[in-house]
Amino acid sequence: MKTLKELEEIRQKTLDRVNQRKDRTTTRIVVGMATCGIAAGARPVLLAVMEEVEKLGLTDVTVAQTGCIGLCKMEPIVEVFKPGEEKVTYVKMDADKARRIVAEHIRDGKVVDEYTMHVVQGKILNDYKAEKE
Ligand code: FES
Repeated sequence: MKTLKELEEIRQKTLDRVNQRKDRTTTRIVVGMATCGIAAGARPVLLAVMEEVEKLGLTDVTVAQTGCIGLCKMEPIVEVFKPGEEKVTYVKMDADKARRIVAEHIRDGKVVDEYTMHVVQGKILNDYKAEKE
């Protein structure tokens, strides 16, 4: 059993870590690589992201993998964390879409809305065109 003092220390350390994340100056691109993601085609997506970052000569960009994101049916998923901005979640990715995200969102700063996940009335939607009709 932890003492109150120990719990307070843990809380402070966690807050410090969270604040470090807020101050982060690099962009992070995270690809879901759980089994479901891999089965849905996450490997070529990850590869395409890495190649495009390299090709465009982007600096201050980290490409990382993560495990379960909790949305199997939306895989492959790519999350973008830009400093000072909300996280953007891209769903049902493929290599071409991933390249477009790197060029338009990471390099040019414009979110590619049609690939993002939308939550409408508690339902997760990703069919951007259907939503607009
Ligand atoms: S197992 Fe598919 S997102 Fe967790």
